[in-house]
Amino acid sequence: MVAWQQVNGRHDLPWQQTRDPYRIWLAEIMLQQTQVQTVIPYYERFLARFPTLEALAEAPLADVLERWSGLGYYARARHLHRCASTMVAGQHDGFSADPAINAQLPGIGRSTAAAISVFAFGRRAAILDGNVRRVLARCFGLTSGASPAQDERALWVLAESLLPEQAIEAYTQGMMDLGATVCTRWQPACQACPLQVICVARQQGRQTELPQRAVPKPVPERAGKLLLLTDGRQVLLERRPPSGIWGGLLSLPEVAAETAESFALRHGCRLKQTQQLPTISHRFTHFRLSIEVLCGEVEVVGRLAADAGWQWLALADVAGAALPTPIRRLLLSLSTTGWSFTAGGAAAGADDLG
Ligand code: ADE
Repeated sequence: MVAWQQVNGRHDLPWQQTRDPYRIWLAEIMLQQTQVQTVIPYYERFLARFPTLEALAEAPLADVLERWSGLGYYARARHLHRCASTMVAGQHDGFSADPAINAQLPGIGRSTAAAISVFAFGRRAAILDGNVRRVLARCFGLTSGASPAQDERALWVLAESLLPEQAIEAYTQGMMDLGATVCTRWQPACQACPLQVICVARQQGRQTELPQRAVPKPVPERAGKLLLLTDGRQVLLERRPPSGIWGGLLSLPEVAAETAESFALRHGCRLKQTQQLPTISHRFTHFRLSIEVLCGEVEVVGRLAADAGWQWLALADVAGAALPTPIRRLLLSLSTTGWSFTAGGAAAGADDLG
């Protein structure tokens, strides 16, 4: 694996040019649910704004979320900020070479902690991300056992048992590179694989069958109602509470049973027209949210701008704001249709994990 990585692996990824634990940690967090090519520009822009752990710790969370905007899974950015603040406040003495210590920090699981220890400190530690799981399951022909927890334990034991004594960085990068570029989920390039002669899945022609996937559980449904109020140039937004769905992001004000008209009336504003947009369906990790959007064009702003927790955002600034992905999409699509309030322009059925 080491020799294969040195010849065939990736060597010019931005986070490979450093041993700085801060930069390596940031990369590993960004790469948790996002592919390399998507991460690179975000990584570079994030580091330009927050070049050190101290700079990140001192920044307001809203600035961090803004730089994260578009990468999705915003809990990662909140954890990153909390982690930096904890470390700079001295409750945790920087990153340790020991993965078990780093794994106690917010947002750092066992595999991420191991990757930090390997790449920043050259420590021998096993990683087990999605790519490595696939490589191991195929190479060793692993099928599901008594329970997912037992399978997981067995995979960790196997991953640990394979670690080389030397060149842990090249080995770890090699496992990642093999999973990402050769042992891909669909149509793996087995003829280019250094493990082809020992790979059980290849011998048995079971590459696409392995790793076995757990039967998906039914996804619970939730419903929410948002108000989209605009004066044609700006849109009214509220900052979400720090935890929960879209925690800390700007979003459209959420209402319970209220209509756009009664909301407007309560805040001394008058609406020219209102319209219900097509429902947006958004998939979160553990549930699906069905979002009803009531749209209103504001004629008289009243106290709307002054009420606590709200702000107007210029429509021209929507693309770069720290908005949840389906909300940004909706606003951009309405901007491009000229705020004509025609239902067809809305991001109906938007379904992504951001
Ligand atoms: N995925 C997770 N960590 C990675 C890394 N360091 N390089 C490339 N892909 C990765």
